[in-house]
Amino acid sequence: MESTSSHNVTVLIFGASGDLTARKIIPALYNLWVNCYIPRGLKIIGVARREKDDTRFRQEMRDACQQNVRDGLFDSNAYAAFAGSLHYHILNFDDREGYAGLKERLEEIETENGPAGTRLFYLSVLPNQFGMIARHLGENGFISPPDALELPITRLIVEKPFGRDLESARALNTDLQSVLDEKQIFRIDHYLGKETVQNLLSFRFGNAIFEPLFNNHFVDHIQISALENLGMEAGRGAYYDKSGAMRDMVQNHLIQLLCFIAMEPPSVWGGKEIRDEKLKALKALTPKSYKNVDEWAIRGQYGPGSVNGKQAPGYREEERIAPQSNTPTYVALRVGIDNWRWAGTPIYLRSGKRLATRATEIAIVFKKPPLQFFKTIECDQNSCWMIDTQPNVLTFRIQPDERISLCLSVKRPGMEVDLNSVDMNFLFKETYANIMPDAYERLLIDAIRGDTTLFMRSDEIEAAWEFITPILDHWEANPCADFPNYAAGSWGPEAADRLFGDSTYGWRKI
Ligand code: BG6
Repeated sequence: MESTSSHNVTVLIFGASGDLTARKIIPALYNLWVNCYIPRGLKIIGVARREKDDTRFRQEMRDACQQNVRDGLFDSNAYAAFAGSLHYHILNFDDREGYAGLKERLEEIETENGPAGTRLFYLSVLPNQFGMIARHLGENGFISPPDALELPITRLIVEKPFGRDLESARALNTDLQSVLDEKQIFRIDHYLGKETVQNLLSFRFGNAIFEPLFNNHFVDHIQISALENLGMEAGRGAYYDKSGAMRDMVQNHLIQLLCFIAMEPPSVWGGKEIRDEKLKALKALTPKSYKNVDEWAIRGQYGPGSVNGKQAPGYREEERIAPQSNTPTYVALRVGIDNWRWAGTPIYLRSGKRLATRATEIAIVFKKPPLQFFKTIECDQNSCWMIDTQPNVLTFRIQPDERISLCLSVKRPGMEVDLNSVDMNFLFKETYANIMPDAYERLLIDAIRGDTTLFMRSDEIEAAWEFITPILDHWEANPCADFPNYAAGSWGPEAADRLFGDSTYGWRKI
């Protein structure tokens, strides 16, 4: 990352008593500050309802940084210097009058540094508070015009979830846009801040040899998987039970991965142009008809089982989950992109909780050679057997063990012409030890700089909801009779295998 501009930066975190502030936002700001990406005069104001003063907030954030700053980069002396930038202000978010007090406090804190520069408002609050807080900020004169020549510059980050269907997302966009200009709004999807996700675009458009193969002539299908072996972390049940896997992971993270892997190259490397191309891919998503949703959209919910040798409860037995809950904890989809490049190429997406493993990856499975001259030998510990020649597979492992691998067929040494499938691997860890920033570092610095490339634009969000909402509606109208339909620690419901139909392929064991 290059160093950012020199004018003052103030970050106001609404929801400063929340878990995200302690786990991600403050540790990310600490790292950016220590590494000089943010000017020394940084000011952070934690805003929340809970009674607390600056000293207590600094102490709590010290513990948070100690536990959460990546790669052991925490340093007590550096934190002592950083802590001076931290302040805390008590505010009831719906107390309209209280915002005047916040403004006074903000101006008072900023005067220590000279003129206010960039003010970044981070809304890490309940989704139904986004619009209200933005409105109060507008009414109290916190928001500068987007193209004003003088400082301060205003930017606002909104955490997920951004709506729970098309209608609510549209309403939220309208609320925010009534106060702010689109270029002042930064809707976070933390997947886009991951190095390995950004690398999808760099890999595709920074190498000349792969891109010509990324199309329906050469690619048999694409699999995008985000598998988790955790279930409900403490305190999460209440949120999750109202969301489920589709809203929590697919509508945002997986659909964004799909855009990055399938979008057309932009003609210019810019936030607008990249997001225009993503939008085109979203608009071309198929199926267009929702008549036979159950044929291409599968849902699941985990029952009791065992994960890594440990007994795990079923979803309905987890903390703060309704005992008869019908919330899906697993989703698998077979979709497509109806454009010249991808028409006819299936794209399989899946995501779930309490599965056999934790792994996020995109696999581009290429077509097999037109003539099958050879056989491939596959072995386990006990025996070997012959299978057809395997396809080349280009895999982007987003996490863990971040890597890019290309699976190739090679002749196995010996007197026969038999093949083995082998991997050519590039491991991020081997080449770039300890320099992988956390997603939030990247996203925060981009928002401070005003770079919208890695944030979702209003039309992108709406296009994603437009595709997903009818599936959710169908599921709501037709509750699943067989929940729970997969055991904790398994690979998900059997029904998800049906998505591959007559094809010789199935879900990758990753
Ligand atoms: C969050 C979801 O957005 O992403 C969580 O709300 C999920 O349910 C998490 O566990 C996964 O993120 P990551 O970065 O661990 O893959």
